[in-house]
Amino acid sequence: MTAPIAIIGTGIAGLSAAQALHVAGHEVQLFDKSRGSGGRMASKHSDVGALDLGAQYFTARDRRFVDAVQQWQARGWVAEWKPSLYHSKNGQLSASPDEQVRWVGSPRMSAITRAMLGALPVHFSCRITEVFRGRQHWNLQDAEGQSHGPFSHVVIAAPAPQASALLAATPKLAGAASSVVMEPTWAVALAFANPLDTKVDGCFVQDSPLDWLTRNRSKPGRDGNPDTWVLHASSSWSKHHLDMPKEAVIEQLHGAFAELIDCAMPAPIFSLAHRWLYARPASAHQWGSLADADLGLYACGDWCLSGRVEGAWLSGQDAARKLLAHLQ
Ligand code: FAD
Ligand code: NAI
Repeated sequence: MTAPIAIIGTGIAGLSAAQALHVAGHEVQLFDKSRGSGGRMASKHSDVGALDLGAQYFTARDRRFVDAVQQWQARGWVAEWKPSLYHSKNGQLSASPDEQVRWVGSPRMSAITRAMLGALPVHFSCRITEVFRGRQHWNLQDAEGQSHGPFSHVVIAAPAPQASALLAATPKLAGAASSVVMEPTWAVALAFANPLDTKVDGCFVQDSPLDWLTRNRSKPGRDGNPDTWVLHASSSWSKHHLDMPKEAVIEQLHGAFAELIDCAMPAPIFSLAHRWLYARPASAHQWGSLADADLGLYACGDWCLSGRVEGAWLSGQDAARKLLAHLQ
């Protein structure tokens, strides 16, 4: 019997690879340091309901991803979001409608990766600290000192700075991963007892600490009280305020929101801040995925292509394709 394939990371890239390998008849085992799947597409449970603090929506431009999203839609995992979009520049708020099709997980962003994971075997709350090779197989060591294995191959689907540490067995791949700079994003969620009196569902922001804000209930399947909003700071603001206490981040971003929105801004009844340390790669790459096929070690994630959901999914497919091609 052949050993299973280990996949580190249950974000969309790791699950994309896992599904492709599973469909091709291979046994996979997944690991994630978090308590659930999704990574930057996870949704946080809170007193005011589920909050999409990371990816807000996604677009599908590559034919292969368009096909996958259509299947997800048919299964009810995603729905089209048709927001009333705005743009804010120099404090000027203006409607900014367009024809772009945008998708969201239904009824929350994490629904997609949860459905993709299905019944695949997974170890949550398991941070892998080392990937090492025995005579024939790979083994993983976790932060508790426990080892897992043997595995025939390992696919590392973590953000580049976390992947590079796990790629020590192949210095070339480790070097490529460590060359990728990933920028942070501060995210803030606010809830209001009474709905804000504005038509804005989503807003692209320039010349402000913010670069994006959205009304949660405008997305399909998320109606309900109270009225919750998610604000994202720009990369540069987030970098400059990386270690700011959460209360101060909430206060500053709430202030920036109040300045640009076209309605009265009450005090929120709920607030929360989350810092994404590795939110997005500073630049795009054309790697697809990284592979040392002779050793059986692969790395994938949004940082191998575009820093978007679509790029991450395509990268997972690319890693699986390279692995399967080498087996033939
Ligand atoms: P991740 O989702 O980061 O998954 C990696 C997983 O690996 C995580 O679950 C992590 O816990 C796990 N992991 C890491 N290290 C280890 C370890 N040592 N051991 C075990 N597990 C480990 N994209 C869009 O297309 N549209 C958007 O609107 C959008 N908005 C965004 C807003 C924010 C604030 C952020 C942060 C991202 C946004 N993105 C958006 C980007 C999108 O979320 C990512 O491109 C995509 O989700 C990345 O998927 P991934 O699988 O490559 O990585
Ligand atoms: P998209 O095509 O909707 O947006 C791409 C960019 O085009 C936007 O960032 C915005 O600047 C501009 N834009 C699009 N529609 C607009 C409109 N109607 N009015 C004004 N400007 C508009 O989606 P795509 O290409 O799939 O990008 C994904 C989104 O995810 C981007 O907004 C990106 O900034 C965001 N993202 C955020 C991250 C973070 O850490 N905050 C990380 C990765 C992606």
